[in-house]
Amino acid sequence: MRITRAGWALMTVLSTLIVLLSAKYAGLDPDDFLSEQRDTYLRHELALGVHISGAIVALAVGPWQFCARLRRRWPHWHRRIGVLYLLGCLVGGIGALFLAPLAYGNAVSRLGFACLGVAWLITGGIGLRMILRGRVEGHRRWMVRSFALTFAAVTLRLMLVAALAAGLDFRTCYLVIAWLCWVPNLLLACWFTRLRPVRQVS
Ligand code: HEM
Repeated sequence: MRITRAGWALMTVLSTLIVLLSAKYAGLDPDDFLSEQRDTYLRHELALGVHISGAIVALAVGPWQFCARLRRRWPHWHRRIGVLYLLGCLVGGIGALFLAPLAYGNAVSRLGFACLGVAWLITGGIGLRMILRGRVEGHRRWMVRSFALTFAAVTLRLMLVAALAAGLDFRTCYLVIAWLCWVPNLLLACWFTRLRPVRQVS
């Protein structure tokens, strides 16, 4: 199966949109915080700042790694951006593990985010290990899985907007979406990379 140009463009536009919306958090202005979590974020500004700075970088640069034309023309940039992406995942993932026990909702949402954080760190780590060992196909597979998890930041917000528009209860939706924002992404990425080599948008 192939990442189509339209699919890649949509993924890039949505990722960039969430990066821009999340960037306001980097200023750590309490007026910008999710109102339900304002007090928690004020008490844990460092974890929030660390998480968002790393996560924003990963989400901003991630989609460009799937553009084969860029990779062919400027392979050294693929490596540099790849290092930036993985550093973003590492920093964002460590921050996420500090935030997960403080997340809105209850143990269900907190466990959902903690599992996502762990899976995010693991997939990026395996992707790095693969390329350091020269296993290019394995590296591609694991980086697709890693970005599918990074993209949870997009699916989470799309799902929350849809749930609120449908008039559903925010708290209940949040508990479900803490899992639904990433488990289907990961399953889809595993299916997408299961047999044939991952072809990328040219
Ligand atoms: C993929 C792994 C990620 C995990 C495990 C994770 C985890 C978390 C957790 C637990 C919180 C606190 C939620 C709460 O208070 O209820 C949070 C908040 C936040 N995260 Fe992440 N996150 C991830 C990726 C990202 C990415 C890629 C971005 C994007 C740029 C991002 C941006 C934010 C922002 C802006 C907040 C503040 C609250 C909000 O607006 O939702 N996160 N994250």
